[in-house]
Amino acid sequence: MTKHLTTIDATTCGHACACGDASAEPLIGRRQFVAFGAVALAAAALAACSAGSDLTSPGTVSATSFKLSDFPTLGTVGGVTTTTVGGVPLAIVRTGTSSFSAFSRICPHQGSTINVTSSGFLCPNHGATFNASGQWVGGQRTSNLTSYPVAYDSAAGTLTVGS
Ligand code: FES
Repeated sequence: MTKHLTTIDATTCGHACACGDASAEPLIGRRQFVAFGAVALAAAALAACSAGSDLTSPGTVSATSFKLSDFPTLGTVGGVTTTTVGGVPLAIVRTGTSSFSAFSRICPHQGSTINVTSSGFLCPNHGATFNASGQWVGGQRTSNLTSYPVAYDSAAGTLTVGS
């Protein structure tokens, strides 16, 4: 007896393949197919909620320039702003009068997007914490944040992140 993979939209033989084989036996029925699909969707949703996005930070980002004046929080030392370069969520920190750091905000643990706090960064997924230098300092054990070079042109008032 022939077995067919599809059973929905039955036509001639009761199968989507329209082979005309009246003796064909479906592998699974429509109700089984729908139930299996619902279970698969629920499992996928649960995995997405519990495991972060599984994104990883690229080793480099393309050099991208910004006007410093577009980020008022970087007007003072210790200020932090967030932006995106090439689809990578970043944090830029003013570390001195003419020095800046940039970090990926993709958590090195399982890829959630980390948030800025008063003392650094916090991952909302499992609680990894990082200081303002991007170093892991507590919570879920993981590595430091990926950092990217920042060039500051004081004459032009621009920051160039990446290389
Ligand atoms: S994804 Fe687990 S601590 Fe960030």
